[in-house]
Amino acid sequence: MDAIHRFRKKSFLLTFMFCVTVFCLSYKFNYCLTKDLRFSRFKDKSTLVLLEKNASFKSRGMSEDHYDTTTRSPKPCSLKKKEPLSEVKLDLSWKEEIPLTAQRSPKYRFLRQQGLKATRKLPDALIIGVKKGGTRALLEFIRVHPDVRAAGSEIHFFDRFYKKGFEWYRHHMPPTLEGQVTMEKTPSYFVTREVPQRVRRMNPKAKLLIVVRDPVTRAISDYTQAASKKRSMRKFEELAFLNGSMGSNGGGGLVDTSWGPVKIGVYARHLERWLHSFPLSQLLFVSGERLVVDPAAEIARVQDFLSLKRVITEKHFYFNATKGFPCLMKSEGSPSPHCLGKTKGRSHPHIDPVAVSRLREFYRPFNARFYQLTASS
Ligand code: A3P
Repeated sequence: MDAIHRFRKKSFLLTFMFCVTVFCLSYKFNYCLTKDLRFSRFKDKSTLVLLEKNASFKSRGMSEDHYDTTTRSPKPCSLKKKEPLSEVKLDLSWKEEIPLTAQRSPKYRFLRQQGLKATRKLPDALIIGVKKGGTRALLEFIRVHPDVRAAGSEIHFFDRFYKKGFEWYRHHMPPTLEGQVTMEKTPSYFVTREVPQRVRRMNPKAKLLIVVRDPVTRAISDYTQAASKKRSMRKFEELAFLNGSMGSNGGGGLVDTSWGPVKIGVYARHLERWLHSFPLSQLLFVSGERLVVDPAAEIARVQDFLSLKRVITEKHFYFNATKGFPCLMKSEGSPSPHCLGKTKGRSHPHIDPVAVSRLREFYRPFNARFYQLTASS
């Protein structure tokens, strides 16, 4: 009786241990199986494998135990040794991480669907100026195009960070698919002496866009922006004529050509420098005024110049009465209506009409020269 009891006890223990072993093995096996499936889904899509690493591994509760941060790959599953990992063929030469904002972009949804790989490349086209001409509006409008990828902020590579080298610049560009146009806008490029040659060195075939606006209005816009930052700014009239001898009736004053907002508007001088490095055919002059009254027409010219299909049309714009400017029905980042920020489209202070007409006179010969230079554009 005692022997039977001992035999039962032994067999119960053995069965229990067998069950525990089977449970452990099947748990490990299932984990490895699903892990392989997760990776094989992204086979040959190395970009997405890395995205998976960045975006999902941690959010799925996978710890560093499952992920080797030095090799940027998942640690091998002990059941299957290294086989599943070698099958995945992670392309570690692609070390760039696509930011989460970019992943959400519809352009990246397309990438995921097609299994295409995005790379960062130096820009094909630049919005080089003119400051306060409407450069932000142009960039925001053109980047709605599915074949355009643009850096959101001003990079200032050619005027401030040139010493950092082209590789630094490339890293500041958004990931781009084959066939997409990469763009950047930094308005100070137009007026910086060294920039034309530097851009040429990067790409002699680069396409250059320049938004031009009546230089007097542009100067007032520039002044309005500066005045909004510095409360103690002098009046526009005083600044515009500081080196001249404004009489008590405002007569006889000479324009202060050393004042930044005045200098920038002498478009012909800056353009002459650019024409030493680039043929006119590689430059497109966008009208800052028309960009406000008929954005679709101006953007049509831009799409043609960039050899893009005319995708952006009137349907993409609406006039926002509160802002007093055209806005986008949807922007690159959001599907809802979108206007430019409050620093764009400010109301200008009243400027003495005498000062305005004197400035107009000052610019007249430079404007004539500018029209001459751009005649065949
Ligand atoms: P103001 O703010 O003086 O009106 P930039 O982007 O080059 O700094 O230019 C700013 C100017 O863009 C603005 O100057 C505004 O007139 C002009 N602009 C053109 N289209 C615009 C738009 N859709 N919304 C807001 N501003 C626009």
